[in-house]
Amino acid sequence: MRRIAVIGAGQMGAGIAQTIAQHGIHVMISDIDRAHAEAGKATIGKSLSKLVGRGKLEADDAEGVLSRIEPVGDYSPMAEADLIIEAATEREEIKKTIFENAGKVLADNAIMASNTSSIPITRMANYSPDPSRFIGLHFFNPVPVMGLIEVIPGLATAPETTDRISAFAEMLGKQVVLSQDEPGFVVNRILLPMINEAVFVLGQSTAGIADIDKGCRLGLNHPMGPLELADFVGLDTCLDIIKVLYKTTRDGKYRPAPLLVKYVEAGWLGRKTGRGFYDYTGDAPVPTR
Ligand code: CAA
Repeated sequence: MRRIAVIGAGQMGAGIAQTIAQHGIHVMISDIDRAHAEAGKATIGKSLSKLVGRGKLEADDAEGVLSRIEPVGDYSPMAEADLIIEAATEREEIKKTIFENAGKVLADNAIMASNTSSIPITRMANYSPDPSRFIGLHFFNPVPVMGLIEVIPGLATAPETTDRISAFAEMLGKQVVLSQDEPGFVVNRILLPMINEAVFVLGQSTAGIADIDKGCRLGLNHPMGPLELADFVGLDTCLDIIKVLYKTTRDGKYRPAPLLVKYVEAGWLGRKTGRGFYDYTGDAPVPTR
């Protein structure tokens, strides 16, 4: 794959574009408009500067990475791409519009992939021009650091598409877990009920935020507790995923924790808004309960 396009320049899209560019490949990045795509590139620039500052990356190499990232204002340049990766908000109607519009320029042999965390691939494949070249490619945050990519073929995905995408994921230095197209795939099916349960535990005042996270960090050896991880992923994203699990399975064990819904309604979405279960406006995160 020589040219790749990423649609969505938020946390995931920017991380995906950075990782691709760090592996020597030209990557276009787009969002609702060119300004948002440029902002995504600026975020990547900051992330690379931090690595340079910590002696993890040479300044010249950082420049090289940035030079391979091309913000674009619409989908037309993506006709050149071998692979288009959608990494937009976790809402099906938004993704549908993207697949229909970007599908108009998708080259004959190119693949369209979705970084969805939970929406069925088989269903979304029908929004693209060729379901045999449509696949789930699920990255983990922070993308440049995390070692896993889930690959999710839909019912109509051609084996050749799965092989090409798995080879691409490995070329990025990631390990692949192949998942059937079931709600939440493998990792989020396990992770989101844990995060949701942690919010129930908080809502029932069984323990405070700091202790819930400390319990899981020390008791389970997780690098982050579930509430700090929820803030890191984004509480809106967590709620969207648990809602998809609940709606698609109708299993009460996935019922969203009422406190999670309230935090999202308050606009307390985690690190990206400066406040979630922790307040991030000072030097160090402070638990809010
Ligand atoms: N680009 C490249 N490297 C980066 C980077 C970036 N943007 N950000 C951090 N790094 C590197 C750092 O340079 C550092 O490298 P060294 O180990 O070589 O020094 C390493 O990553 C760790 O970074 P920090 O020292 O800054 O931070 P840390 O040690 O506190 O670790 C963390 C941070 C990696 C995020 C760790 O806390 C962690 O693994 N947390 C759990 C993350 C997780 O579970 N992610 C999955 C979320 S679920 C998901 O994404 C799926 C979904 O659909 C919701």
